Parts: sequence; C-alpha cells; structure tokens
Amino acid sequence: MLTNTFDPDLFRKNSEAVLSRLESHLADSSIRGLELIDPETLIQAARALMTDERDKIAAFDEKRLDGITDLYVRTGIPVHSPGYMGRQFSGVVPLGGVVDFVSSVVNQPSSFYEAGQLPSVAERIMAEELNRFIGWEPDSYAMVTTSGGSLANLTALLAARNRMFPDFWSGGSPAADGGPRPAIAVGADVHYSVSRAAGILGIGEAQIVRLPINREQQICMEQVRPTLEAAERRGLKVFALVASAGTTSVGAFDPLDELGDLTAELGIWLHVDGAHGASLLVSDKLRHRLRGIEKVDSLAWDAHKMMFVPAPCTLLFYRNKEDSLGAFQQRASYVFDEEPDRYTELDSGARNFECTKRPMIMPLWTLWSVYGRALFAEKIEYLCELTEEIHGILLDEPEFETVHRPEANILCFRYRPAELSDEDVHRLQVAIRNRIKLRGNFFISKVNIDGVAALRVVMMNHQITTEHFRMLLSEIRRVGIDLLAAAR
Ligand SMILES: Cc1ncc(COP(=O)(O)O)c(C=O)c1O
Repeated sequence: MLTNTFDPDLFRKNSEAVLSRLESHLADSSIRGLELIDPETLIQAARALMTDERDKIAAFDEKRLDGITDLYVRTGIPVHSPGYMGRQFSGVVPLGGVVDFVSSVVNQPSSFYEAGQLPSVAERIMAEELNRFIGWEPDSYAMVTTSGGSLANLTALLAARNRMFPDFWSGGSPAADGGPRPAIAVGADVHYSVSRAAGILGIGEAQIVRLPINREQQICMEQVRPTLEAAERRGLKVFALVASAGTTSVGAFDPLDELGDLTAELGIWLHVDGAHGASLLVSDKLRHRLRGIEKVDSLAWDAHKMMFVPAPCTLLFYRNKEDSLGAFQQRASYVFDEEPDRYTELDSGARNFECTKRPMIMPLWTLWSVYGRALFAEKIEYLCELTEEIHGILLDEPEFETVHRPEANILCFRYRPAELSDEDVHRLQVAIRNRIKLRGNFFISKVNIDGVAALRVVMMNHQITTEHFRMLLSEIRRVGIDLLAAAR
C-alpha cells in the first residue's frame, strides 16, 4: 500500500484529473466576487471528505481527491474573474502555476546550492535581469529571495540596524546601556509589516519616526529633514528610512531621488518597500515612478503581486553585496561551510531567514525565459492605464468622490451622494463594501484615508475593462441608495 501511494502511474492519473478541473476553472470568465461560506459549514464539508480509516493506509479514492480539488477551487477568491478587484495578489500566469507544480514534486529547497541547483542559478540570473532596470554595477549588488515582502522588509532593516549598530546582535540595544536609542523613519502610510519589523528588531513604537505625507499620500520632502532633526533632539538615532514604491492604500510612490540624496548626506540606510510597485521598473513607460532607485540601499520587490506568479516570491536587492551578509549572524557547521567554494558561494542560507526555502524563483524565471520582459510590461501598463481611465470615469460622476490621482493600479474613492458628515460617509463606505462582498458579484476592499473610509479597487486582471468598472459603480449606487433609505 505504501508503494502504491508513490506509484507514478497513479500520479499521472491524479494530475490529469486535477488539470482538467483547473482548466475549466481558468476558462470561467463570469463576473464573480467571493462566495463567503460559514466556517462551520466549510469545516463540515471538509471533514466529510476525509477517510474514516485510522489504522492502515486507506485505499485511494478518486472521488475524495475530486471533492477536495473542487472544494479548494470553489471556495477561493476567484482571482481570474473580472469581478475580482479587491486585493494585490493576482491570478497567476498559468504557466507559472505549472512550474510551481514541478517545484512541489521535485522538492528542491533553495537556500543551499546543493539542494536546489537550478533555483540557485535562476536566482542569480533573475537578479542580473532585473538589476538592468535598477542600474547597479554588475559586481557590486546582491539579491536574495524571501518568503514575502514582510520578511524582506524585516531582513533589510536588520541589515541596516546591524550596519549602524554592529554590537546590537551580540550585546542587545545600546539604549539599555544609556547609548543612543536606535530608530527608523517611515512614511506615515507605510505597510504594517514595517512597524511589525520594528517590534521584532527590538525597537519600540516610540522609536518609529513617522514622516508626514502630502495629499497624494507621498512622503512630504520638505518635512523630512526637520522631522529627522526633531527625532535626534529626542535622543533617537535613525538607522534606516523606509520609503514606499507603491503604498498599499493608494499605490503612491515616495520621492526616491530626493530621499536618496538626503539619506546619503545623513548616513542613513534608505530601504524601499517596493512590494507592490517595484515591478513598474520593467516598463519603459512607467519606470520613471521609481526615479532615483539606483541611490537606495535596499529594495523589496514582490513578484507575486505585479509579476503574476504564485505566492510567495519576493526579491530583496542590496546595493552593496557586503550589506546582504549583515542581517544575520550564525554558526551552524551542518550547513555553513567555513571555506566557501564555487558551489557554496551560491548558497543564500546565511543571508535569508529561512533554512528550508521554497524555490520561488522558478515560475518567475521560467516565464521570463519563455515570454521575456514584454509579458510583464504589457500587462502592468494595461492595468495602470485602465486605472487612470476609471479615475477619469469617476471624475464625471457627481455622486462619487475621488481621493487621489492613481500612480499605479490602485484607486480609492467614495460614494458620497448627498451632504453627509465624514462620520456618516465613513460608515456608508464600510457598509457598501460589506454589502458588495455579500452580494458576490464583485470583490473590492476598503481603506481609511485621513480617517475616513474609502472604497478601494486594485486592478490585477487584464480581462477587466472600463465596462466592468461601470457595472461595479451601478452596483455601488444601488447598494448605497438602499443603505441610505434604510438609515432614514
Ligand atoms: C507595500 C507593501 N509592503 C509589504 C507588503 C507585504 O508583503 P507580503 O504580503 O508579500 O508579505 C505588502 C502587501 O500587501 C505591501 O502592499
């Protein structure tokens, strides 16, 4: 029975069954949002698919596998549907999924060359390919993959902290001995993973310096120097400034060029959270949003967002390759060789947090190899142009209020039909978002901007057209009218 479980013929049959289910899933382009299921109901449905056999290996039951696949596919956000406009993870390029399937079967973790030879080489190649758009000297930079943008932000900040405070790793915070209090400076709208990273790094909320942002939600350059000076007067020593290249809320890009000059002058590490927007670098039309990127010390780049590959796949770039070795310090004779050779020099284990790490680069490298850069550039350009167009549509709709001019593929707006107080507008947007989610035709999100909720769409699917957006607006209007009538 044990041998049967590993039978290659069974593997082929199972794969074929799953493939045909996935094919029909991908072919379904109906307009749908999320079908939210009561967790208890789902637990029951999932339990009903489990074998009762407890003592021996159960006989393979095709129906069980069909049931599991079907339930899995049916209960997710339908990321391939034009109704999905809500979050930053995307429908993947199907070939990327195929390669991920290969990764799951051959199981080659990629922190060490001997375990994942091709993934290690593919990481090096992709670093070279993408660095062409960053522009660093070929021998001077480094790139390491991490399981998500949050971990990339943490890793870069650790490296920055250790560069300015080399004894922190072994001796703890210098503040404990009356030394300066290490701090980071961040745009006020930075992703929550950065504040969370600060907690892990051993610096408190009070050591996070929030830089004011302007109406477009970008770091307000005129206020950076005075805010940093005020922090210094409070006894804080800022070791890193975190800018965003595509904020989560509205997709705003901070002024990297100016920030690069200032941080170089002040000796502060500039980290760019490009989890969402770094991918715009591959587009000739949109690269200018990240003007000055060559000046930064590190850059987090999520390929599982705007490069449409399975999650997670994050690339963390360092301008100086020595810095990439600064995040972690460890000894473990079972994996780290004292004398690197031509093989172990491709190991990334000393530079990333994970020991066993998914060979996440493989779908990206394969798509890049098979289709080239234009696949990504074309899709990203379509999505950003579409977002610009729907912004234009909203400007002509008096009942809707736009909140910002989109710089990428994220747009926030409000349904504001009458003279309502900010508090009522806030409540109305939250209620609309929830009602839309329950109706199940569209999936959108919401975010607070200046303390008032706004509806948020993220265009990740190139099958969405302005017509779909107009349909969404009609639905919002209908729902909004009902909600206002019910509140009277
Ligand atoms: C700007 C930004 N940074 C970081 C993250 C976190 O990335 P991940 O979800 O890959 O951990 C996100 C996720 O949405 C993001 O938008």
